[in-house]
Amino acid sequence: MRAHLAATDAAADRPVLVTGASGFVGLAVCRRLAAESARFVAVCRPGRADTVRAHLGPHGQAVEVDATDADALRRALAGVQPAALIHCAAAGVHPGRREVEPLVAGNVGLTLAWLRFAAAAGVDRFVHVGSCSEFGRVTAAPIPAEAPTQPTSAYGGAKAAASQLALGVGAALGLRVTVVRLFGVYGPGEGDHRLLPQVFFALERGQRLPMTAGTQVRDLLFVNDAARGLLAVARAVDAPAGRCLNLCTGQGVQVRALARRAAALWPADAALLDFGALPTRGDEPEVLVGDPSALTAATGFTATTSLDEGLLATLVAFRAATPRGAHG
Ligand SMILES: NC(=O)c1ccc[n+]([C@@H]2O[C@H](COP(=O)([O-])OP(=O)(O)OC[C@H]3O[C@@H](n4cnc5c(N)ncnc54)[C@H](OP(=O)(O)O)[C@@H]3O)[C@@H](O)[C@H]2O)c1
Repeated sequence: MRAHLAATDAAADRPVLVTGASGFVGLAVCRRLAAESARFVAVCRPGRADTVRAHLGPHGQAVEVDATDADALRRALAGVQPAALIHCAAAGVHPGRREVEPLVAGNVGLTLAWLRFAAAAGVDRFVHVGSCSEFGRVTAAPIPAEAPTQPTSAYGGAKAAASQLALGVGAALGLRVTVVRLFGVYGPGEGDHRLLPQVFFALERGQRLPMTAGTQVRDLLFVNDAARGLLAVARAVDAPAGRCLNLCTGQGVQVRALARRAAALWPADAALLDFGALPTRGDEPEVLVGDPSALTAATGFTATTSLDEGLLATLVAFRAATPRGAHG
């Protein structure tokens, strides 16, 4: 049986620290920890803690800090000695926010700040959340966890640089760092600019949605599974340190099939989805599917939410958050 930190040592009394707690993935990790009544510290940028306050559970704590200010970070987290740190914060996840300097600062600079904090605070496991964008030029399907990175975008480059920094500087600081690369994540709370919310907004309004041909194949992980997977790595004593793992399903789904399935669940006329109205982006790989077997071997984790279950949960959350007619 695999050993888990919480079951084996004093880590049970030490919190998990989550950076980027106001974000899509970070908030899902916090919700999961709250559901477990676990101790955790949810770190947000100044002015953003309201996003997480309703999701703290009995033993969660929200902290606002500019992590790149080392003195402010020390003060804000004085006395906090996390067992694990899950670094979800990253600049540029939204494709509209990809100027190079903020990308570098909000990935490389921010990761360095958290590595230094983690070393000083005696963190046992640093889970650095990476991205399939780091692979860039894709030469295999599924992509093995240790495939070389050849980024083809500023975002992919900044993410790859942050992952390399986490491994190298982490080792130099004596930290146990695992880079966990997410592929496509979907679910309640995802940004309005993303595919499913766009499809739902169009169906809600009964409006045509111009789309690409939608022939791209993607590996889509439900956000609650992403949270469980990150926590599984954070807690697995024998999760490999100094290595990269893929957190994904290993299954590909065509974008047009996904959008059609969403329309069927609504239910709405799939003819509103205007495939081929937009050109396919040149830098997008046709197939982007990861091999999750190394992460499963290290932690026992596998994704359990079927696409239909995940889509339905996403739809229900969308309807709850979107009063009828609000976008009409
Ligand atoms: N979502 C996906 O499909 C997906 C796929 C692959 C990889 N990932 C990875 O998963 C991680 C989380 O992504 P996400 O979807 O949760 O993104 P998100 O919703 O955009 O959240 C990003 C988080 O990082 C914070 N942040 C952004 N720039 C920052 C900066 N300069 N300094 C400090 N904090 C900053 C944000 O704070 P504010 O709320 O204050 O802006 C937010 O809490 C990222 O590492 C991303 O690369 C996500």
